[in-house]
Amino acid sequence: MNFLGLTILGTGHYLPEYIASNREYETFLDTSDEWIVTRTGMRERRIALDTPVWKMGEMAARKALDDAGVSPEEIDLILCTTVTGDFRYPSAACLIQGQLGAKNAFAMDIAAACAGSVYALDMARRYLATGDVKTILQISAEALSQTTDYTDRGTAILFGDGAGAAVLRGGDGLFASALFSAPDCGQNIHCAFPRRSLPFGGGTPAGEETGLTYMNGREVYKFATRAMPAAVQAACQRAGIGVEDLDYIIPHQANLRIIETAAKALKVPLEKICVNIQKYGNTSSASIMICLDESLREGRIKAGDRICMVGFGAGLTYGAVVMEYQSGK
Ligand code: ACO
Repeated sequence: MNFLGLTILGTGHYLPEYIASNREYETFLDTSDEWIVTRTGMRERRIALDTPVWKMGEMAARKALDDAGVSPEEIDLILCTTVTGDFRYPSAACLIQGQLGAKNAFAMDIAAACAGSVYALDMARRYLATGDVKTILQISAEALSQTTDYTDRGTAILFGDGAGAAVLRGGDGLFASALFSAPDCGQNIHCAFPRRSLPFGGGTPAGEETGLTYMNGREVYKFATRAMPAAVQAACQRAGIGVEDLDYIIPHQANLRIIETAAKALKVPLEKICVNIQKYGNTSSASIMICLDESLREGRIKAGDRICMVGFGAGLTYGAVVMEYQSGK
């Protein structure tokens, strides 16, 4: 069977309990609540003090399965997006699969930084369209606190932790996606792990392999304000609709100013943009999935609404998915 679109059977999210307010950053950084709110729109983020990434993903997945009324055994494929996984291997997807007892699934991670959830939605829809796979559990789980340089005020204040998930099946509603990569070889945003010394020689080269995030904020800002409108327009064009036909846009929550600038460029009123950045900061690939779940649970997005999810991040990756929201309920 050849599906045209996606049905979102259920969604869920998990956020760690610890709340790091702007005031707390004032205690160890030369910064202020006023600067952070004005330049980013952020007021708080959640920090996973002890909870690993796979655990956050598992909790979000359990909520999504519950919401969907689907058992772990019904899942055929688990796609997990993360750039902050606890293990190099096995994948977070396999770890979560084991915890859930999703014994009939195959599982893998997708690394596309903050555009990860959009990349995964595109991939999910393609798998479903083949008919080989009937039900997909998509998870986005991130602990940016593990890679944040808390001595760098330009990036320390941006990042938070959390996870979101969705249970997906094929559907007959509108769906189109447009994905892009504009490789900058990590020049403007990267997180490189140190290489170890080997008994054969070689070793850790001098460089920036700190295991922490480096970002040229101004350059990423310029990229993001161009990439977001471009991706939304491209996905709408492929869907055969105008940007004005969208009911809601769920953007990656990187910076409120980026979101507002993109909305202005697209001529979309802010009431149509779903935003929760003030509460959770930038949770990389998890941000869109958390915001999707919140918007659905608040009853903001309803069946039949045309929604657009748009992300951008390290790579540089960017992309958008346009779809008609169908819950299958
Ligand atoms: N508190 C106080 N002052 C600060 C802080 C801070 N936390 N951070 C920077 N400043 C200072 C700078 O030192 C600079 O001072 P100077 O003029 O004396 O040199 C001044 O504020 C302005 O700095 P800018 O970097 O120009 O500030 P900007 O307004 O661009 O905001 C920010 C910085 C928030 C990082 C912004 O550039 C941004 O949002 N960039 C995009 C980030 C993003 O979207 N990332 C997504 C990808 S993340 C991923 O893929 C994992």
